Amino acid sequence: MCGRDSAPVRGVCRGARYGVAMRSRRSCLAVPGSSPRFLEKAQGLAVDEVFLDLEDSVAPLAKEEARGNIVAALREGDWSGRVRVVRVNDLSTQWTYRDVIEVVEGAGAFLDCLMLPKVEDAGQVAWLDTLLTQIERTCGLPVGRIGIEAQIESARGLVNVDAIAAASPRLETLVFGPADFMASINMRTLVVGEQPPGYTEGDAYHYILMRILMAARAYGLQAIDGPYLAIKDLDGYRRVAARSAALGFDGKWVLHPTQIEAANEVFSPSQADYDRAELILDAYGYYTTVERRGAVMLGDEMIDEASRKMALVVAAKGRAAGLPRTTAFTPPTA
Ligand code: GLV
Ligand code: MG
Repeated sequence: MCGRDSAPVRGVCRGARYGVAMRSRRSCLAVPGSSPRFLEKAQGLAVDEVFLDLEDSVAPLAKEEARGNIVAALREGDWSGRVRVVRVNDLSTQWTYRDVIEVVEGAGAFLDCLMLPKVEDAGQVAWLDTLLTQIERTCGLPVGRIGIEAQIESARGLVNVDAIAAASPRLETLVFGPADFMASINMRTLVVGEQPPGYTEGDAYHYILMRILMAARAYGLQAIDGPYLAIKDLDGYRRVAARSAALGFDGKWVLHPTQIEAANEVFSPSQADYDRAELILDAYGYYTTVERRGAVMLGDEMIDEASRKMALVVAAKGRAAGLPRTTAFTPPTA
């Protein structure tokens, strides 16, 4: 059974890929595939991405049924405006290949990406790319449209992160998985995302976050921060989200509706920064082309080519988040 009929195809072509590097992913909601109630409820929530889970939130004996729930939810549900992702099981299990085949044959046209957890090396991403290509060909789906999100959640995955990031043109994001990662390196804490007790200087996650971010940016991917498990501690969520947002991460998982607003807010530029970024782009465009000057004053600040690049980043995030523009550039009168 190939799930094609009358399916909306999302995304537009960018280069070799149906692309989407700038899909907004400020808030990525985890939804257990074993729960038809949560699959239904998730459709009303204001998140940028939903990922329907077949992995750790689904018990081994519920995995088969969860595949069917997910196919039905993708085909029949209203996910408009959201990036639709399914997380399959990792490649050390016996479930991965059937997860991919059943979900993509059943609802491939209603799906934007598959998330592969616990990625350890580039070969695992290449395996998924090849399998997707075969299913897309068999089902008459456009080859290459379904993207891949790779979770980095072990020491081995981090050591190989550059090769993983380069492993397939389908890759859209690298996703930090703090819970599995902390277990993998024997970090001495049980509170996911918080500093390990006894570590009093600096941030125990700084290296990991930066390493993932560097690989993501080097290969044009988005970088996504993983879950914060203390769902009642919104201040804690905000604090931890602000940390990765400040470095440049594009979004963070949300495990509960109460975390959504914080994620959307923390990973959007402020209105003032967005307006300023658009102003810099317009002003720089005017001065470099009409007046042929490379460095000019905009208010009290000198702007040049580097300012344009920084402004592009903020403007792209603001546009992806749907922020309105509240100021306009007026060229000087002669
Ligand atoms: C997510 O998958 C995590 O392990 O934190
Ligand atoms: Mg994990």
